[in-house]
Amino acid sequence: MSDKIAVVGSNMMDLVTYIDRMPARGETVEAPDFAMGFGGKGANQAVAAARLGSQVAMVTCVGDDAFGPQVRANLQANGIDTTHVRTVAGKASGVAPIFVERDGENAILIVKGANAALAPSDVDAAAKTLRAASAILLQLEVDLETVYHAVAFGAREGVSTILNPAPAHPDLDIARLEGLDWFCPNESELALLTGLPTDSDDAVVAAARSLIARGIRNVVVTLGGRGARRVTADSVTEIAPVAVTPVDTTGAGDAFIGSFAHFLGQGVDANDALARAARYAALSITRRGTQTSYATDQEFVTFLSNQALA
Ligand code: RIB
Ligand code: NA
Repeated sequence: MSDKIAVVGSNMMDLVTYIDRMPARGETVEAPDFAMGFGGKGANQAVAAARLGSQVAMVTCVGDDAFGPQVRANLQANGIDTTHVRTVAGKASGVAPIFVERDGENAILIVKGANAALAPSDVDAAAKTLRAASAILLQLEVDLETVYHAVAFGAREGVSTILNPAPAHPDLDIARLEGLDWFCPNESELALLTGLPTDSDDAVVAAARSLIARGIRNVVVTLGGRGARRVTADSVTEIAPVAVTPVDTTGAGDAFIGSFAHFLGQGVDANDALARAARYAALSITRRGTQTSYATDQEFVTFLSNQALA
């Protein structure tokens, strides 16, 4: 087992507005608070794994604007290897205007910017780093060709691949994910990608199995307040929900994936790694922001012992 993780994917500057309610079209309303923070599903996964102690390398693109150097510096400040962070001339960095309501729920716009330039050739350029990793983490805020290329690389080179198919992308071609080890949609992404219903536990399992029939090894479906299910060709494992009071759910899915990869890389059994990742993600939703809400391994240990006492 290796504690090295590689993330191939996105970074964004999160522009987070805390709101009482969304304005209607043509309306102006005042919002109580604003914060800028580092985000993007790829960078978030990378930071979660790094905070827990993994050695992480990120393959991503930033723009040649004011945000580019800040994004790079933030990855470095989190101990992440930025050798394969490429600056794209004439492009803006990715940004995400995010609106968070009082109950912790959010609405997110993403503008890919330089992330759209991340290409299969960037994956090839990082081949040595990727080969040394215990897992390659992927999301859908970059070109789908780059995602397919990284999945094929992992399958060919024997490096485990983990894909979070978010944001939901109707054009994702399942046939090109053959050999993917871990596919981690939520129930609406699963419904969109399979064209099957996901409105009951049995339906979720059937939809997940339709993906397994097409060459994906494990499907982990996140079900919000109902926890998650890991589905393989011959097993279904329930990952129990973790009850916390939500403050800001932004980036909880990325915390789940990044921490899951970390625990797997530590040699933890997959079902146990998923249960721990659910706790790590739960802790993140009790805190404001995206990466700002990701705990270190020490903070996580404290959270687990407080939970055990509660
Ligand atoms: O998953 C949360 C992330 O989605 C945010 O950080 C935002 O950048 C968008 O990519
Ligand atoms: Na959070």
